Amino acid sequence: MSRTVYVNGQYLPENEAKVSIFDRGFLMADGIYEVTSVLGGKLIDFDGHFVRLERSLNEIDMPSPISKEDLLAVHRKLIKCNDVDEGMIYLQITRGAPDDRDFVFPDPETTPQTIVLFTQSKPGLADSPAAKKGLKVISIEDMRWGRRDIKTVQLLYPSMGKMMAKKAGVDDAWMVQDGTVTEGTSNNAYIVKNGQIITRALSNDILHGITRSAVLRFAEEAQMEVVERNFTIEEAQQADEAFITSASMFVMPVVEIDQQSLGQGTPGPLATRLREIYLEESMLKAI
Ligand code: PDD
Repeated sequence: MSRTVYVNGQYLPENEAKVSIFDRGFLMADGIYEVTSVLGGKLIDFDGHFVRLERSLNEIDMPSPISKEDLLAVHRKLIKCNDVDEGMIYLQITRGAPDDRDFVFPDPETTPQTIVLFTQSKPGLADSPAAKKGLKVISIEDMRWGRRDIKTVQLLYPSMGKMMAKKAGVDDAWMVQDGTVTEGTSNNAYIVKNGQIITRALSNDILHGITRSAVLRFAEEAQMEVVERNFTIEEAQQADEAFITSASMFVMPVVEIDQQSLGQGTPGPLATRLREIYLEESMLKAI
């Protein structure tokens, strides 16, 4: 069944939606994206994703082409048109399509931005079998640019990281810079030791995960201890538990790092509990 997608103010069947070959998203990776999850047909943390979208646009000097109310309306219409119960909405805003390829930014007055949204239906997302088994990860060097706090569409290195993981027969990769873990290829990374949740503090080195922010808040509300600091792969391999967070994975346990099993080699109690809390609390607040 063909999806209905949104392109620059129009709702179209996916095979009729078109973007110019001069679009700077295509030529220069000059674009920002967001992924918002949908549970029970409702959006999880739409406000958080909108705030980060505005921040990312601002950091690359791109105007914001759509109001929060209009963007919410587009998200809701796409959920309805495509009958999405569980899944994600992908949103991408680029600096538009000037007349020719040029490194210099076009004038936003004469080159309107491109805005594209589409749905990804994933029935069973919340009740994922992977959450019961846990993920295996390898470590790789973090070779991305220095502004990972901006959610740009330049995802080549994270894609290469996922391929390195696939070739190694595991699920994902954790990236390491100057000896400590930054984050996963498309998620934030955590370890648990003696009941303490340890995760890297926010900086330009990592994406400021919307799920991270909610999970740390829920953890503190549940009297769990959170410490924001760097950790090494060796420390992670000796941890009691590990997990990742993202809009598409929620809280997902990690059970192996560079072929070393953690604890019993099964999802830890704290990660499992945090996943339950996250899903319960987020669904209550979903809009
Ligand atoms: N990725 N770190 C990176 C590098 C990411 O790409 C993501 C999200 C996160 C988690 O952020 P959030 O909790 O706001 O989803 C952390 C999305 C899901 C993606 O690229 O598909």
